Amino acid sequence: MTEPGAARPLLDVRDLRVHFFTGAGIVRAVDGVDFAVQPQETLGLVGESGSGKTVTSLTLLRLSPRPARVVGGRIDFEGEDILTKSEKAMTGVRGKRMAMVFQNPAYSLNPIYSIGDQLGEIVRWHEKVGRREGDARVTELLRLVGITDPGARLRQFPHELSGGMKQRVCIARALLCNPALVLADEPTTNLDVTIQAQILDLLLELKDRFRTSMVLVTHDMGVVARMADRITVMYAGRICETADARTIFRSPQHPYTRALLESMPRVDHSYARDDARRLPVIAGRPPNLIEPPTGCRFHPRCPEAGEECRRIMPEPKAIGPGHTVSCLKRGSSGVAA
Ligand SMILES: Nc1ncnc2c1ncn2[C@@H]1O[C@H](COP(=O)(O)OP(=O)(O)O)[C@@H](O)[C@H]1O
Ligand SMILES: [Mg+2]
Repeated sequence: MTEPGAARPLLDVRDLRVHFFTGAGIVRAVDGVDFAVQPQETLGLVGESGSGKTVTSLTLLRLSPRPARVVGGRIDFEGEDILTKSEKAMTGVRGKRMAMVFQNPAYSLNPIYSIGDQLGEIVRWHEKVGRREGDARVTELLRLVGITDPGARLRQFPHELSGGMKQRVCIARALLCNPALVLADEPTTNLDVTIQAQILDLLLELKDRFRTSMVLVTHDMGVVARMADRITVMYAGRICETADARTIFRSPQHPYTRALLESMPRVDHSYARDDARRLPVIAGRPPNLIEPPTGCRFHPRCPEAGEECRRIMPEPKAIGPGHTVSCLKRGSSGVAA
């Protein structure tokens, strides 16, 4: 919900539902999701693997994979509903107003075109400029993402670059047309630890420079701690809690948010096997989304769950400025489901 006096959000996702229609049944991967992104803000979308983060972010660009279908909701972006746009109109949004950095840079670059050709084509297509101007823009972006001798790199192919360099190229590609929103889905998960921090710092620096908003998708609370202004916690296709980053870390309300925070490695502990201080993990596993738990989807793993949590699906409740939580134990109302 937009608060009084707040600027209109750049992106406003309401009650989004994306289901996969498979032979084994309907997978309710995204099942009533609300969140918003303000201009120049970084929203961290966090949750365990399988919670629906990737399906959500691909759907924002209308790229959700078959057999997925959007079965409900709205995606307002720059004041227009993404879900009602024609496919032709979407080609003017993707890469131009909203761009994505994928988890695996090796798969997201085309192996048979040089870096210069594949990035240059994006600029020429969207900005209607010639080769010389396109190449100049690509060179400028490669330089900004920290690639040395960018003019020579234009002629190189993806396989000639390291993983970290490839991800830098993908970040350059996302920013070529100065988009309003960048979606970064686990952008450092496949990279060496030492490179991860560099890439995250680069994203932050460029986001400020270009005044871009970002949705940063990750399973890693450490990454959102470093990057996000606000955090939305997702579990089994639903949103548990949203608040500014400081509130999420200082005063988390949803039992799942608390569990995620407790499972974060801490620098002041050494975690040895069979040590009493061993890294805690959340008991149980994320549910099967063909037959998700009734009521609150987290109830089978929740230390606080009561009888009503099995029956009633909690709706988001505002409990502070910009802070919403979906938990019956925190005052949410809900419907039997
Ligand atoms: N192609 C597919 N067919 C059927 N189910 C899928 C497909 N892709 C993803 N899913 C299901 O959607 C759910 C959410 O997946 P995903 O968005 O990739 O999670 P996350 O990014 O949070 O790890 C998972 O339960 C997964 O099983
Ligand atoms: Mg994912």
